[in-house]
Amino acid sequence: MNDVLRLPAERRLADELDALRAHDRDPRPPGWRLSPRAVETFILGSNGRAYEFERDGAPARAVISRKFYGDDLLVQRAIVTLASDRGLLLVGEPGTAKSWLSEHLAAAVSGDSLLTIQGSAGVTEDQIKYSWNYALLLAEGPSLRALVPAPLYLGMRAGKVVRFEEITRAPHEVQDTLLSCMSDKVLTVPELPGDDGVVLARRGFNVIGTANTRDRGVNEMSSALKRRFNFETVPPVEDLNDEVRIVREQVTTMLRGTTAEGALLGDDVLELLVTTFHEIRAGRTVDGVKLDRGGAVMSTAEAVAVGYQSALFASFFGRGRVEPEHVAIHLAGAAAKEGGDDLKVLRNYWEVAVKPRAARELGLWKAYYKARSALKG
Ligand SMILES: Nc1ncnc2c1ncn2[C@@H]1O[C@H](COP(=O)(O)OP(=O)(O)O)[C@@H](O)[C@H]1O
Ligand SMILES: [Mg+2]
Repeated sequence: MNDVLRLPAERRLADELDALRAHDRDPRPPGWRLSPRAVETFILGSNGRAYEFERDGAPARAVISRKFYGDDLLVQRAIVTLASDRGLLLVGEPGTAKSWLSEHLAAAVSGDSLLTIQGSAGVTEDQIKYSWNYALLLAEGPSLRALVPAPLYLGMRAGKVVRFEEITRAPHEVQDTLLSCMSDKVLTVPELPGDDGVVLARRGFNVIGTANTRDRGVNEMSSALKRRFNFETVPPVEDLNDEVRIVREQVTTMLRGTTAEGALLGDDVLELLVTTFHEIRAGRTVDGVKLDRGGAVMSTAEAVAVGYQSALFASFFGRGRVEPEHVAIHLAGAAAKEGGDDLKVLRNYWEVAVKPRAARELGLWKAYYKARSALKG
């Protein structure tokens, strides 16, 4: 599996899930692989506690890592919603871990995060419910054999969580195919006679949708469909130290098994990087100085990307240690997607926030300030 770019959560974290299952004494909602408490531990971590379990007959131990930082109550509410008869809609700015949370919730609850529909203007009902193997359909007419099930069909039949990413980007009529499936918990295949044409959702079935507030149309979801969901707004990470932790963990994971694995992303550089994102996002520095704020998405996800690319750069073209300059070089590409105005935001940051700190000879800020030539558009 060494050549796989990224494993789904249930495979990547199979040890953690097995360990939790081995210790799970609490009742599980019907159709769930874990109890609500164990799902919570999977998402919020075990605080260093190691769980013993058996891996292929041999004793093993696993510490449950923290996956989501921020509002623990949000995670608990999300778990409650999933056990109820309503879907869960995670709403928020891009890069706030909506997809990340949805993947890990699905992995914990159903052991399967791959029943995923990607919402887009081009998504069709076929891609959500089912389509046909047309060769078989023409040869034999409609039959279960000729039916090609899509995620919603599969999730209802197996009693699993189905993920609908960026749901508000999908056309209305496609969104609304969810309606009957979510309220009546039944999916019909009119072409098939009798029981073959009726899929009754098994317990454990539910839907996690995600929606970006930056996309137009969050409000355009039909009110009927809105009523089928509980909405949870996922805020950007508020605590600087949490964000440092997220970026460090993510970058370390991403580098694992690559030629850049040994690249060093020190805490001091990490702090520069995260502070930059944090302050521009907030529109002011921690000392209270006002900053320009453009349309650039300064999300944690982008901070992870800049950290990762800086580490690769340091490994390929530097001395293996990420320098402030490497961060500046990659910031422009990550943050300045809309071109000039976004670059202006960065340059303003260098003038207003970086320069005074450099003048006070604070840590690496001086080197960071020197790297401002990387921000020329
Ligand atoms: N609160 C958070 N806790 C943990 N990781 C976070 C958090 N916010 C952002 N991240 C990181 O940023 C990434 C967010 O990406 P993603 O889930 O694709 O965002 P979204 O779907 O909200 O646009 C995740 O991979 C995660 O590593
Ligand atoms: Mg997403």
